[in-house]
Amino acid sequence: MKRAIVFGATGGIGQAICRELALSGWSLYLHYNTKKEQAEQLAQELFAKYPELDFMPIQLNFATSDQELTSFVNSLLPVNAAIFAQGITNYGFLGDEKLTNISQVININLATPIKLTKLLEPQLMKQSFSRIVYLGSVYGGAGSALESVYSGTKSGLSRFAQAYAREVASNNLTVNVIAPGAVKTQMNSIFSQATIEEVQEEIPAGRWAQGEDISYWVKTILNPRSSYLTGQTIYVTGGWLL
Ligand SMILES: NC(=O)c1ccc[n+]([C@@H]2O[C@H](COP(=O)([O-])OP(=O)(O)OC[C@H]3O[C@@H](n4cnc5c(N)ncnc54)[C@H](OP(=O)(O)O)[C@@H]3O)[C@@H](O)[C@H]2O)c1
Repeated sequence: MKRAIVFGATGGIGQAICRELALSGWSLYLHYNTKKEQAEQLAQELFAKYPELDFMPIQLNFATSDQELTSFVNSLLPVNAAIFAQGITNYGFLGDEKLTNISQVININLATPIKLTKLLEPQLMKQSFSRIVYLGSVYGGAGSALESVYSGTKSGLSRFAQAYAREVASNNLTVNVIAPGAVKTQMNSIFSQATIEEVQEEIPAGRWAQGEDISYWVKTILNPRSSYLTGQTIYVTGGWLL
């Protein structure tokens, strides 16, 4: 049985990834932070459609101790793939930002994913093929004013993936970043309708992405035939910015 862990399975993009992977025959750990009920509902929905597969909700706050991260990974059944679709941002000038918020964004988007990658490595390497996919951002390639810390974490993921991919390439473990442009999810719920339309006018494809525009590429990377693609950041932006 091939099994993946989807971090951020309760997010707009994470849910789309889970539905796409289940359709492709993947059993899944559905990670959540606060939305336990949503993770359980998703597990039920997927189990009703694919009773031969496993769907297990699992909780972890990424802002936690190294010891808890270690126990979390030690509690997992073997996985062939880890998808990091969790993430947060803070919108505003760096000068107005609280120091604790800066640490929070760096931990949840970058530091904890790197630590979890290190902890998952032994079991990923035991598989005949394995995959790591991080959700980056177009802002990791073209830094965005008012989201400078977020942009820094996403850029960091891309360079980390490039470097780490070279360390593990000979072990059938590939490491890539899917970097979306603007996707209609909870993360963008702070924006007014007018701002949403302004952004849409800048996107050459003429629309915001849906979760499915992003999950398709995650599914494709997880296919065993994608074994020669590693260390890359793939921008899925409808032609926007990069
Ligand atoms: N939406 C966009 O336009 C866009 C564009 C580019 C890149 N991205 C990236 O794509 C990824 C998914 O974004 P999205 O739009 O799907 O976001 P979203 O709908 O806001 O979902 C965020 C996810 O992150 C989890 N999360 C939040 N805080 C956490 C913490 N402390 N510990 C562990 N998990 C935590 C949430 O869990 P709970 O809900 O259970 O609390 C949720 O599953 C993110 O990395 C984001 O940066 C998004």
